[in-house]
Amino acid sequence: METKIIRVEEGNKEGEWLAEAGEMIKRGGLVAFPTETVYGLGGDALQEESARKIYQAKGRPSDNPLIVHICCWEDIDTIVREVPEAARKLAKAFWPGPLTMVLHKSERVPYTTTGGLDTVAVRMPAHWIALALIRAAGGYVAAPSANRSGRPSPTLAEYVKEDMEGRIDMILEGDCAEIGLESTIVDLTGEIPIILRPGCITRQMLEQVVGQVEVDETILKGTASQIPLAPGMKYRHYAPKGELTIVKGSGDCVIKAINQRVAEAQERGEKVGVIGTDEMVSLYQADSVKSAGSREDEKSIAQALYRILREFDDEEITVIYAEALGDVEEEKGMGQAIMNRLLKAAGYRMEEV
Ligand code: TXA
Ligand code: MG
Repeated sequence: METKIIRVEEGNKEGEWLAEAGEMIKRGGLVAFPTETVYGLGGDALQEESARKIYQAKGRPSDNPLIVHICCWEDIDTIVREVPEAARKLAKAFWPGPLTMVLHKSERVPYTTTGGLDTVAVRMPAHWIALALIRAAGGYVAAPSANRSGRPSPTLAEYVKEDMEGRIDMILEGDCAEIGLESTIVDLTGEIPIILRPGCITRQMLEQVVGQVEVDETILKGTASQIPLAPGMKYRHYAPKGELTIVKGSGDCVIKAINQRVAEAQERGEKVGVIGTDEMVSLYQADSVKSAGSREDEKSIAQALYRILREFDDEEITVIYAEALGDVEEEKGMGQAIMNRLLKAAGYRMEEV
């Protein structure tokens, strides 16, 4: 299949790209597009066949449900059975934005889209290209992250091309994804809202709007005995090709431990990468050393993480050591989301030193 690649310049709302991309989705095709979190791979959420194509293009198991993206609040009535008060309040506070809500689905949403579940995940993204595309495509766009299953989510159009060229109909090229990690997912089908995937919208921020919110424990610790509530969280996502280990502790100990492990791995013939922060990065010796940003600036770390994992793949790095770039217990800022993704990329391998 030939993939048409269209560069969409900032603010070009009148361009032909929009009608063309919208039609493509309406006809059952797949179009990748930028959002504020990561690039998405869009198909018509109300057509069974589109979801099948998405799973195929990604190489993703079909029991892993898709998020339905909408562009205006009223459209939610079509896809959910009822809108609880909490959803109304959260949408008012955070949409358009990096928040996905899980609600009971209506009959209009095919089970292929929801991976067989009676619930549906809904999000209104805060990106003009995404919003314009959703509208042009008829209002309901199912879109997982536009990576091949098992690879880090794409934060740049270039990475979408790497993973998807030849497998989908079209790629809309925009700029680098601003946030760099996927949306917060909150399940609103029970009495108390539960965070299924941490993101830029934190528990604290949600609690300010709807009161008590819980966090699915399995996203904080990698316990094989518990099954996470978001089906997608059980798969080893975000994984680089190299074996990643997180090294946690005070600054000096971490530097010493990482350098020692790098040397040992190099002895064994491995090509070794290190992910550090601006404050410590000059003190490591390895085949490739990268800073994710300053410890003072979690946003830059969130934005850089997936890019760095992909760069190590390109450099054929076989072993990676990373500083703990965040804290899973942290309830402010991006620390929890960063650490959740890093832990998953590491298959939960972490050493305390
Ligand atoms: O930021 C994002 O959310 C990006 C952009 C493109 O919007 N999308 C994204 O989609 O991350 P995806 O498919 O890569 O991740 C969706 C996650 C999966 O872990 C899936 O299991 C979970 O959402 N999910 C979807 N529907 C669900 C449902 N009904 N109940 C529980 N979890 C659900
Ligand atoms: Mg994904």
